[in-house]
Amino acid sequence: MTATDLAAIRGAILAEIGAAADLAALDRTRVAALGKKGQVTELMKGLGAVSAEERKARGAELNRLKDEISAALDQRKDSLSEAELDRALGAERIDVTLPARPESEGRLHPISQTIDEIVAIFGAMGFKVAEGPDIEDDFHNFTALNIPPEHPARQMMDTFYLQGPEGGRPVLRTHTSPVQVRTMLSEKPPIRIIVPGRTYRSDSDMTHTPMFHQVEGLVIDKTTHMGHLKGCLADFCRAFFEVPDVPVRFRPSFFPFVEPGAEMDIGCSRKGGELKIGAGDDWLEILGCGMVHPKVLRHCNIDPGEYQGFAFGMGIERVAMLKYGIPDLRTFYEADLRWLKHYGFSGLEVPSLVRGLVTP
Ligand code: DAH
Repeated sequence: MTATDLAAIRGAILAEIGAAADLAALDRTRVAALGKKGQVTELMKGLGAVSAEERKARGAELNRLKDEISAALDQRKDSLSEAELDRALGAERIDVTLPARPESEGRLHPISQTIDEIVAIFGAMGFKVAEGPDIEDDFHNFTALNIPPEHPARQMMDTFYLQGPEGGRPVLRTHTSPVQVRTMLSEKPPIRIIVPGRTYRSDSDMTHTPMFHQVEGLVIDKTTHMGHLKGCLADFCRAFFEVPDVPVRFRPSFFPFVEPGAEMDIGCSRKGGELKIGAGDDWLEILGCGMVHPKVLRHCNIDPGEYQGFAFGMGIERVAMLKYGIPDLRTFYEADLRWLKHYGFSGLEVPSLVRGLVTP
């Protein structure tokens, strides 16, 4: 074979590569040139039949040709892929101006909505969300909270007891307060948490269901005092009920895990049987609170000489009913779709303080 023959072969292959219309055609050209039985491969095989001297020069020539063809194949492959992508991008269109598909079916349960609102408000005050198990032990649910065995508060709580291994007696937590204990035992102060979650009591009527929700709050630091408690909870009520000047009052009350303890009321009117929050001269109790009892701190290995703080616990159903005018607690858990359509919320409206908690 002469050099002119080789130049002709080179020209033909490179031309074919340049003319390949798509990736499949290009691959056929590759196989025809460099494949097992390809034209260039066959020429390489032919080298065995020529003299040693000639083989050296011819071999080098063929290798150069092979490299040249490989490079041309790569280049063509790149430009064909790019063209392919351009074509796809040109043909397939996503209309980003289309509005999101309206959520006509699913609704957010008022409990989920209310929890999201509460988390948004306390989140803005620097609280983080903590969690604990629904099945608790006696220590976390009672003893560490200064409710010793035989204490009357245990009877007040209508506890569901379970049968545990080895004679143990776990309980379905009667309040979210055990998460105070869990957090203080696992984290060092300063602590600033809220704990939304399920709670259980053996109780059922217009205003009680065996399962309900609470949100607990806990702040522990060196100088935290009752003034912080009052300011924090008053701010919460104003943001949550979206009444800027809702009056609040604190009435002394007893909870074993706080000293002093209080119940917080918000101002309301009940004129004409209609409840209105913020106006009028009546009061409505919404939560329990107080300064964390030194005995509780000691149970959690925190030195009451160095640290102090406040805690509160609030029924979520109760504030949801007040805010959204839901008259009967039991309807929350009847799984009635008509009810959910009426009282539920759009999943696309995430509560935030930016435009007010709920957008109309
Ligand atoms: N755990 C109490 C209950 O379920 C509510 C409560 C009252 C929580 C006072 C607190 C508190 O943290 O300080 O009735």
